[in-house]
Amino acid sequence: MSRLQGKVAIITGAAKGQGLAEAKLFAKEGAIVVITDISEDGINRAAVEINETGGTALPIVQDVSSESDWKKVIKVAVEEFNKIDILVNNAGIPSRKNVEEETLQEWEKVQAVNSTGVFLGMKYAAPEIRKAGGGSIINISSVYGIIGVGGYAAYHASKGAIRSLSKTAAMDFAKDYIRVNTIHPGIIETPMTQDLFEDVEALNWLKGVTPWPRLGKPEDVANGALFLASDESTFVTGAELVIDGGWIAH
Ligand SMILES: NC(=O)c1ccc[n+]([C@@H]2O[C@H](COP(=O)([O-])OP(=O)(O)OC[C@H]3O[C@@H](n4cnc5c(N)ncnc54)[C@H](O)[C@@H]3O)[C@@H](O)[C@H]2O)c1
Repeated sequence: MSRLQGKVAIITGAAKGQGLAEAKLFAKEGAIVVITDISEDGINRAAVEINETGGTALPIVQDVSSESDWKKVIKVAVEEFNKIDILVNNAGIPSRKNVEEETLQEWEKVQAVNSTGVFLGMKYAAPEIRKAGGGSIINISSVYGIIGVGGYAAYHASKGAIRSLSKTAAMDFAKDYIRVNTIHPGIIETPMTQDLFEDVEALNWLKGVTPWPRLGKPEDVANGALFLASDESTFVTGAELVIDGGWIAH
């Protein structure tokens, strides 16, 4: 149980859902986790939970779309723990509107959090990961960064941007031993999707498109992130890990 022993990991959007599952698993595997979220109460609660169960978590309040917040997070992480090995750009917000329904304001907000946040995270963490001798960046996209289902214009665009941005960053950073990979979850049961899981019609649709006999949990994504964060994936970069119970394989 020490696949991340000695590593320092930053995980954004870690107050709940997949980010919290990743933070708990990484801490259990020996990483020091710097966990950030826009929700102050939420991220403080997450840190208490991790620290009470033997992990080491430092909570920081952060809006991932803010450049000054990113500078603060990197500075504090390095001051406290001397280095950064792993960055998980997990924070994200949904929008369920088609092209005509979407407002410019909401479009810009979704791009700012979901894709500009990933750009800023890599921009400010990469110099520190380079100084540490290399490491791993994991950007959380979605199956909606690969396929289209309709009705999610801004969200799909933001997740597609993460996919291609990650590939160019993987090219740029390879010489520094910094790996950059994306995870593409299917619909996973978290606070973001709770309403879908409570809607009989949506749930039946989801079961219909998912070949695997159960639906996705945050821990399924966290396990994929653990592999990409660990030294076991040292030769994996620019890759896309789809975690969707087989949904988009057909
Ligand atoms: N749940 C799914 O079905 C699913 C599927 C594919 C991809 N994803 C992606 O996975 C990631 C995590 O999703 P989740 O389902 O756990 O979501 P969630 O809503 O349960 O949790 C997201 C967290 O991000 C935080 N957050 C929101 N805006 C922020 C900001 N500006 N700065 C910092 N933190 C912010 C929230 O406070 C929350 O704690 C997201 O990027 C999401 O788009 C989710």
